[in-house]
Amino acid sequence: MRICMDADYEGMSRRAAAVMADQVRENPRSVLGLATGSSPVGMYAELSRLCRAGQITFRDVTTVNLDEYYGLTPDHEMSYRYFMEKNFFSLIDIPRENTHLPNGASLSPALECSRYDRLIESLGGIDLQLLGIGHDGHIGFNEPSDRFVPDTNYVKLTEETIRANARFFASEADVPRYALTMGIRAIMQAKKILMVVNGEGKADILCRALFGPITPAVPASILQLHPDVTLCADAAALSVIADKYPAAIEK
Ligand code: GLP
Repeated sequence: MRICMDADYEGMSRRAAAVMADQVRENPRSVLGLATGSSPVGMYAELSRLCRAGQITFRDVTTVNLDEYYGLTPDHEMSYRYFMEKNFFSLIDIPRENTHLPNGASLSPALECSRYDRLIESLGGIDLQLLGIGHDGHIGFNEPSDRFVPDTNYVKLTEETIRANARFFASEADVPRYALTMGIRAIMQAKKILMVVNGEGKADILCRALFGPITPAVPASILQLHPDVTLCADAAALSVIADKYPAAIEK
């Protein structure tokens, strides 16, 4: 695992954008696994800037997002489809039909989960998967559990995740209680993983995920077994790792 540290969110976002841009330049037909949350917003802005400046094109790229709230239609302002349109897809030259998210409005979560796994399989898997990390160690919406769930799955969000995500909604009561999330298999089968993490609030869980025991109680800990992970983080998010394992960090 490469652990790259930048002083702040802007530096981290630029470095993460460079990793993704390299992937797309090397293979213009890349399948990118994408993520939502506040962590990757700066990276998306930087990639959009590069695209506007003609330095990169997403014309032949395909994207599959990690997750979606269950019960929200794609045009709902809090849906992850809406987030992706606003922060990325509408700002780049990707054909809309190349962009995929689980359908949170599907009447059958089980059928939607298997459709999503078949879709990922039909694309030949993911070339580069972007991930954030939740305060409880979740990746996508794979919440702490007593087992790693391999397939795309329908999950009940934990109280901690509902509380953490309430900042995007009018009130905590409005946060959907369920979501659809890509499972651990598709994530771990991605050829490369790019993780973006910022802020002091993530410092402790990030250290537990990367240096603690590999356990479904901290879903991100499975990444220790992936052969090609790049972590782009700011100094605040790396403060605990810098303290305990300083040699692991690239400046
Ligand atoms: C949500 C998403 C995750 C994301 C996490 C962290 O729960 N489902 O994919 O990584 O939030 O979000 P943030 O980057 O806002 O801290």
